[in-house]
Amino acid sequence: MIAKVTTSTLAKMKKDGVKITAMTAYDAPFAAMFDESGIDMILIGDSLGMVVQGGSSTLHVTMEEMLYHTKIVAGACKRSMVIGDMPFMSYQVSVADAVKNAGRFLKEAGASAVKLEGGAAVCDRIRAMAQAGIPVQAHIGLTPQSVHQMGGFKVQRDEERLMNDARAVEEAGAFSVVLEGIPAHIAKSITQALRIPTIGIGAGPECDGQILVMHDMLGINAGHVPKFVKKYAHLGEEARKGIKAFITEVQSGDFPSSEHCY
Ligand code: KIV
Repeated sequence: MIAKVTTSTLAKMKKDGVKITAMTAYDAPFAAMFDESGIDMILIGDSLGMVVQGGSSTLHVTMEEMLYHTKIVAGACKRSMVIGDMPFMSYQVSVADAVKNAGRFLKEAGASAVKLEGGAAVCDRIRAMAQAGIPVQAHIGLTPQSVHQMGGFKVQRDEERLMNDARAVEEAGAFSVVLEGIPAHIAKSITQALRIPTIGIGAGPECDGQILVMHDMLGINAGHVPKFVKKYAHLGEEARKGIKAFITEVQSGDFPSSEHCY
């Protein structure tokens, strides 16, 4: 029996100085690959709205869409901690809405935790969820659901505000915090100041762990990728080569050959 990664596992990893690995996933085959490869945390990110649905932001993603994908991913994971990302307007309107929607990720979709964006401003939500027994990961810095308020997807550099937000979410009961799009030296100070693990994306090497969006790190997307992304594979190029070869062979009559016929 494989032991699941839990909030205690992650706390111990931080204490022992063992780096935490995290990845987004949206479907079963990739979730199973990440889980079997040893990724500690799998986030069903609302980045779904961009990398899967092809939108220009995450704002249109719904609770039902997030629950659908979270259930698929959770069903494919044996070891990784599965975290459902709370979409825009599923927790902003009221504390009651926030707890109810967070609960749906655990109850209906099989996640072990939820993530929400925001610092001090969402601490009443984090506190209420934690009191209801729902592990919460916070997300500060560049928070994509506030893209219009931030004036675009911009690196966040207000050190005092970032530190206050980080301390506030820890105090409210978050078990971890994602630091997105902030200078490496600020992420380092926050990581040293907090007891809970920090998971960086575009936040330098000193965080307790790192997360990337799978489509970016596996080279599935054709367009622009941010500076902080490293492509560990080029699946998009491979797929395009395969698609072109199929077209050529069907048009020439080379496929199907006798080995593919009954
Ligand atoms: O939605 C998402 O994929 C995220 C990660 C980038 C942290 O929030």
